[in-house]
Amino acid sequence: MYDAQPEPQPAAAQPPPKPATHRGHAIVITSGKGGVGKTTTTANVGAALAARGAKVALVDADVGLRNLDIVLGLESRVRYHLLDVIEGKVSLEDALIRDKRSPTMSLLAASQTREKDDVDTEKMRALIEQLRDHFDWVLIDCPAGIEAGFRNAVVGAQSAIVVCTPEVSSVRDADRVVGLLPHSLEPKLIVNRLRPHLVRRGKMLSVEDVNAILRLPLLGIVADEPEVVMATNRGEPIALDPRSQTGASYRSIAARIVGENVPVERPKTGFFARLSALFGGR
Ligand SMILES: Nc1ncnc2c1ncn2[C@@H]1O[C@H](COP(=O)(O)OP(=O)(O)OP(=O)(O)O)[C@@H](O)[C@H]1O
Ligand SMILES: [Mg+2]
Repeated sequence: MYDAQPEPQPAAAQPPPKPATHRGHAIVITSGKGGVGKTTTTANVGAALAARGAKVALVDADVGLRNLDIVLGLESRVRYHLLDVIEGKVSLEDALIRDKRSPTMSLLAASQTREKDDVDTEKMRALIEQLRDHFDWVLIDCPAGIEAGFRNAVVGAQSAIVVCTPEVSSVRDADRVVGLLPHSLEPKLIVNRLRPHLVRRGKMLSVEDVNAILRLPLLGIVADEPEVVMATNRGEPIALDPRSQTGASYRSIAARIVGENVPVERPKTGFFARLSALFGGR
């Protein structure tokens, strides 16, 4: 779906043309509304891609409110951050934190003490370009909102994932964000925190309700499960738990991202999820 393509070389480039390298692909994970699961999605999709052997860089673009390091359990290892690299204080290599659990995945943390406006948009673009030279996938965790932080998170991306929960306010904000994204990013939708039993009782918007407004290709559906919060608190992406149905949802999203033809499965919850896990996820 997002299969990274070899970059066309510039026709009359001044420096000697680079060999036709297989450059990475940058995806921004955005939503408009806050708290709908962008950071959780970034961590889990990243971990699932890395588990397939891909080289993955996760960029926390939520300058001032970093969280991705906590979700990954890497908070004690953050020494440098994105702005240190952008401002030339440290090299990209020194600022990247390699995840020991997922050795092909690295994190570039955000600063906690700076403002989103401190990031120079063109330098952010150059940073993502640099990461694409070294990684197959660069996942950019976008801050909530549509201001400077959003623009900086989007600027270097080739694709977008829009995370939306089945709530009217989330759908409206996602719709606004889709309108602001460059068309070239071809946004895809993840519906997060779905509760199938509430949908069945007509008490929650269904995926179809959400997508009747957004009209985006559906990349995945993730159930609302307490195990996601528990895994986050442990700093262990649920995508790495082979027995978790929610983990399987993230793994199949990763499969779709690399271009595998995996149908989007409806999450099971409660009794059915436990029964399914008992029988090996069948
Ligand atoms: N599928 C899920 N089931 C249960 N809880 C979830 C799920 N997805 C996310 N959460 C929880 O929702 C909360 C918000 O998630 P997260 O931080 O990923 O959102 P966000 O969009 O990045 O927020 P912000 O806009 O503040 O950056 C967290 O406590 C997270 O554990
Ligand atoms: Mg976040």
